[in-house]
Amino acid sequence: MKGAILGIASAAVLTMGSAQAATATRSAFGALSDGTKVEAVTLTNGAGMSAKIMTLGAALQSLIVPDKAGRKDDVVLGYDTAQEYLTRPNYFGVSVGRYANRIAKGKFSLDGKAYTLATNDGPNSLHGGPRGFDKRVWRIDSVASGADAKVVMSYVSADGEEGFPGELKVTATYSLNEQSELRLEYRATTSKPTVLNLTNHSYFNLSGNNARDVMGNLVTLHAARYTPVDATLIPTGERRAVAGTPFDFRNPHRVGDRIRDAKDQQIRFGRGYDHNYIVDGAAGTLRPAAVVSDPVSGRTMEMSVTAPGIQFYTGNFMDGTFFGKSGRAYRQGDAICLEPGVFPDSPNHADFPTARLNPGQGYVNTMVYKFTAK
Ligand code: GLA
Repeated sequence: MKGAILGIASAAVLTMGSAQAATATRSAFGALSDGTKVEAVTLTNGAGMSAKIMTLGAALQSLIVPDKAGRKDDVVLGYDTAQEYLTRPNYFGVSVGRYANRIAKGKFSLDGKAYTLATNDGPNSLHGGPRGFDKRVWRIDSVASGADAKVVMSYVSADGEEGFPGELKVTATYSLNEQSELRLEYRATTSKPTVLNLTNHSYFNLSGNNARDVMGNLVTLHAARYTPVDATLIPTGERRAVAGTPFDFRNPHRVGDRIRDAKDQQIRFGRGYDHNYIVDGAAGTLRPAAVVSDPVSGRTMEMSVTAPGIQFYTGNFMDGTFFGKSGRAYRQGDAICLEPGVFPDSPNHADFPTARLNPGQGYVNTMVYKFTAK
């Protein structure tokens, strides 16, 4: 039976013709200053899209998407060289782990045992600590062209690395199809009970090559509630309705329309948007979470996720001192990040969706980014 299904699938690929298959090509991507070589895999489809993923941080280093006139531009922020991702880290496009977002005061306990992590964001631990997964060189496990051009990268995190328990085996699978869907799936297994929250930290600017800021982008977030934070961006535990606040994106709103609404303390704490939204619908099933469109270029990105939450961040910490790929300065409000995962600081909130992973369980976090232009 299984053989029959495979037979039909390969027949479909054959009739589609090899010219229409998406391709995956492996290339060198320079070296870090200590000599470590970095590689990249570029996934390209027949619709003019291509995604370059580098082994440092299993990061989406570039994403070329046609606009309404067919003009191809890079819609994610980043650097030209791998070393810059270490010297001036901003988490551009990277895979974040072991724990994306914050853990209050770098402390949590699991089965009665207390763990202390390094604090690297004021009083808190951020994005897996000083040497998280974004600063590690991942291995390329497989590269394949076909109906889905695909690369699988893996990383093995030692028991105790950055203060987290258990040896964690992680894969990041990126695939691109002819429907202009980029799919990213994180999977992990552990040798001991642990906590984790893997995500991707791409900074989208649909104008291409950072031509304009994102204040005129229209954003929809399929979320009736979000998790407000304290002044250090740790959730208070409340799940607050977005209705009647600057956080309501259930219908499309321009990012800039309410971002300066300082009457809302949450806008002040975030210096804009830097908040976890509770995605409507059942976590664990792939469902629509966000839509971003740029009326000038005509590009739209629709995002579906399996995660319970999504962090909406408007690049508030970028201050114009970072010079990226296009030789342009990256300033506050130059990008939108949408980071799907469990909620920030979940290990310290018993009533948040759990970040716990036990031996024998398989962790999966899937996100799909679909691009159109009109
Ligand atoms: C996440 C956080 C932000 C910031 C960025 C990285 O989006 O929520 O506060 O730390 O990562 O700069």
